[in-house]
Amino acid sequence: MREIYTFETGDSFMTQRKILVTSALPYANGAIHLGHLVEYIQTDIWVRFQKQKGHECYYVCADDAHGTPIMLRADRDGISPEELIAQVWKSHFADFCEFGIAFDNYHSTHSKENKALSELIYNRLNDSGYISTRTITQAFDPVKNMFLPDRFIKGDCPKCGAKDQYGDGCEVCGATYSPTDLKNAVSAISGATPIEKESEHYFFNLADFSQMLCDWTSAGHLQPEVRNKLAEWLEGGLQQWDISRDAPYFGFEIPNAPNKYFYVWLDAPIGYMASFQNLCDKTNLNFDDFWSKESDVELYHFIGKDIIYFHALFWPAMLSGANFRTPSAIFAHGFLTVNGEKMSKSRGTFITARTYLDHLNPEYLRYYFAAKLSSSVDDIDLNFDDFTQRVNSDLVGKVVNIASRCSGFIQKRFDNKLSATCAEPELFAQFIAEHDTIAQHYEQREFGKAMREIMALADKANQYIDEKKPWTIAKQEGEDAQLHDVCSVAINLFRVLAAYLKPVLPALTGEADVFLNSPVHGWIDELKPLVNHQLNDFKPLMTRVESDKIKAIVDASKDDLLKV
Ligand code: 2FM
Ligand code: ZN
Repeated sequence: MREIYTFETGDSFMTQRKILVTSALPYANGAIHLGHLVEYIQTDIWVRFQKQKGHECYYVCADDAHGTPIMLRADRDGISPEELIAQVWKSHFADFCEFGIAFDNYHSTHSKENKALSELIYNRLNDSGYISTRTITQAFDPVKNMFLPDRFIKGDCPKCGAKDQYGDGCEVCGATYSPTDLKNAVSAISGATPIEKESEHYFFNLADFSQMLCDWTSAGHLQPEVRNKLAEWLEGGLQQWDISRDAPYFGFEIPNAPNKYFYVWLDAPIGYMASFQNLCDKTNLNFDDFWSKESDVELYHFIGKDIIYFHALFWPAMLSGANFRTPSAIFAHGFLTVNGEKMSKSRGTFITARTYLDHLNPEYLRYYFAAKLSSSVDDIDLNFDDFTQRVNSDLVGKVVNIASRCSGFIQKRFDNKLSATCAEPELFAQFIAEHDTIAQHYEQREFGKAMREIMALADKANQYIDEKKPWTIAKQEGEDAQLHDVCSVAINLFRVLAAYLKPVLPALTGEADVFLNSPVHGWIDELKPLVNHQLNDFKPLMTRVESDKIKAIVDASKDDLLKV
């Protein structure tokens, strides 16, 4: 059992929660793009919020480094898979850092920790009788000498006849089928006609966990719409899950099964544990406190809705079968569309993190996604006009404007020092009073609602300035004290807003902290107005989104297409 820490926050005591959070592990064969970033930004905001609230929270992730596509891509590039995944790790990590995604650890599934944990979990499942073997027939590339995953077989759709369709489904008519149904099938790797070949495979007996999964999926760990989907799958009956792949394969060999490798999806979620193990080895955290059956640490996985099956069925079953704790909740989000459509390479809306960073401030996107995110699995749309308008009007026009409208007077007329008392204690108190509502929205991943509350406060602060008109007072003789009071109130209101926005805008609020010369670290409930307080010189905190930058991103994304 964990210790429960209670600590004082002014006049109230609160319980410190212990929380472990993950985002899905990106594949190590491609660049991070804006679709990925929805999830990392969502998770990062939630984690930053928990930390700001004073909870003990860890955010771990890793590159998902195994599987056929990575092996083939390395082959194509003339490098080893190890070299490829090392290069990709560096570029993923750099992208994440620049977007302010503050992992406590970023590891790789191709690691000694992941190998040990994958073997441990497999052995425990095997010892308990949850693994069986059986011979299956699969498409085999006789030139490349390898079995072909469905994605690597191409041919004519059996239904509509469309040419060049993948083995798992037709992109023209939407039909799904098995690769053996394709007409004129060829290997997408060598162009050879696949032959059928037998091989022994290892299976995880998911059906042994039917009851456990029925209980688990209806015990409050899932969003309502996800739970309904799961109920459908469970009613349909659970199939054995094929967890092995034949050599050549880039992954971990299965213990006591020469030339058989764990399927990438077996060791991928174990990568969450492995990254955490790696963090434990670098710190004094205790792995078992977080992962043992007795743990009451909260464990949350943020994922996209396309990988619910793996996280809400296979993963809890594997954990439970191997005598580990199961997740407290799975938080699934929807897909990203751009200007109302699926991201498209030819339209230039398949935008990589790097291309975005070459042109625009990452915090624009953090704010925009926050403004659009909710706790549901609905898709979210990045509309370029709406993006420009929202960032310019909310962040530049409302929030930053409060400070830029008033800091000049404080600097020039009062030596950058705030007045000796807060002239509007009630107004200040109204800003603080929203802390609980805003905290609940953050907690429930209703970031859009949190942003609306914060912007309503920003409107209130601007109204106050509009009513008091410091620029008029400044011209009046003998009204220095009033000018000082009004501008000091406004700066204090700005400080509260910046504190509320910290989880979303770490860079902007970090610069605001420098200007305010009094960083806010905890949650907002106990914040007091700064009086008689020395500020630093104000520097512009954010500039407007320029629409030509968006055009440049779209053009560069079309160029990216030519480089692939
Ligand atoms: O879908 C994907 O991109 C996978 N690489 C996600 C893995 S998440 C976890 F299970 F490792
Ligand atoms: Zn078709």
